[in-house]
Amino acid sequence: MKTKITEMFGIEHPIIQGGMHYVGFAELAAAVSNAGGLGIITGLTQRTPELLANEIRRCREMTDKPFGVNLTFLPTVSSPDYPGYIKAIIDGGVKAVETAGNNPQKWLPAMHEAGIKVIHKCTSVRHSLKAESIGCDAVSVDGFECGGHPGEDDIPNFILLPRAADELKIPFVASGGMADGRSLVAALALGAEGINMGTRFIATQEAPVHENVKQAIVAASELDTRLVMRPLRNTERVLRNTAVDRLIAKEKELGANLKFEDIMAEVAGVYPKIMLEGTMEAGAWSCGMVAGLIHDVPTCKQLIDRIMAEADAIIRQRLAGFL
Ligand SMILES: Cc1cc2nc3c(=O)[nH]c(=O)nc-3n(C[C@H](O)[C@H](O)[C@H](O)COP(=O)(O)O)c2cc1C
Repeated sequence: MKTKITEMFGIEHPIIQGGMHYVGFAELAAAVSNAGGLGIITGLTQRTPELLANEIRRCREMTDKPFGVNLTFLPTVSSPDYPGYIKAIIDGGVKAVETAGNNPQKWLPAMHEAGIKVIHKCTSVRHSLKAESIGCDAVSVDGFECGGHPGEDDIPNFILLPRAADELKIPFVASGGMADGRSLVAALALGAEGINMGTRFIATQEAPVHENVKQAIVAASELDTRLVMRPLRNTERVLRNTAVDRLIAKEKELGANLKFEDIMAEVAGVYPKIMLEGTMEAGAWSCGMVAGLIHDVPTCKQLIDRIMAEADAIIRQRLAGFL
C-alpha cells in the first residue's frame, strides 16, 4: 500500500509503532521495521545519549530497513540532555523521529538539516495545527482511546481524525485504538495516511517485555483501563490494577489538593518492575482501550501481514461490494 506516510518514511506498509517507555527497545523496533512498518526506539528509556547511541547501533545490526526514535519532551524542571539525544540520533544516521509532549520547535532545524523527518504526536486539532505551523513533517493524532497520555480534551478518534483531516495540510496517522485491518481502513477513510499502534505492539513475540505484560493485555477487555492524574492535568490511560485503584482512591480523597508527591509510589520508577520483571501490581502502566481487541501474541510480521491482508479484503470485497 502506498500513502504519503509510506513515501515519507520509505516503508512498505503505513504502520508505525509508537514510542513506548521500557517497551521500545531495539528488538521491537527492528522487528516492526523488518516486517515493513516503522519501528521506533524510545529515546528516554535509554538513560544517557551514549546508551541511546548504542541502542541505535544494536537496532541497525538487526535491520537494514528504516527505523525511528521517539523523543518525549517532558515538562520537567531538571530536563534530560536533549541536545545529547538529538546528536546521538543524527550521528546514528536515523532519519525518522517521533516527538511528543512539549513543543519540539527548538530542535527542528538541526533534525531537518540532517534529513530527518519529524512526526509530532498530538491529542488535539489545535496542537496538530501548531505542529504544522512550526514545520513538522507529519502528525500522529492520538484520540481519547489511546494508551498513555490522551491529553485533556477527551475527543475520540471518530471525531478527532476527520477534524484533523479538515484542517491539516501535512499528512497524519491515526493513533489510539488501532489494532487490525478494520482500524487501518477506517483510519484511511477518516483522512489519515496510516496508523500508529502502541498497545497492540506490546502483545507481540518480539516485544522485549515480561510475558505477564502480554498476557495482561490479552486478558483485558475494553472496560479495563482507567484515567489517572487528571487532577494534575497529566492524564494517563492505564490498565486497572490494585495500584491504580489505590491511586484513584487518593485522587478522590484529596481532590483538588492532590500533588504529584501523593501518588509517587504508584507512578514513579515503576516501569522497569512491570515491563522487565513482570510485577504487574507494582504501579500504573499505560494501556489503551484497544486491549479489548487484542486476543493473541503474534510475531510483528504475522501481525502486520494480517492487518494488510484484512485491509485489502475489506477494501476490495466488503466495501467494493456495497457499490
Ligand atoms: C506502555 C506504553 C508506554 C508508552 N510510552 C510512551 C512514551 O514514552 N512516549 C510517547 O510519546 N508515547 C508513549 N506511549 C504512547 C504510544 O506511543 C501510542 O501513542 C499509544 O499507545 C497509541 O494508543 P494505543 O495504545 O491505543 O495504540 C506509550 C504507550 C504505552 C501503551
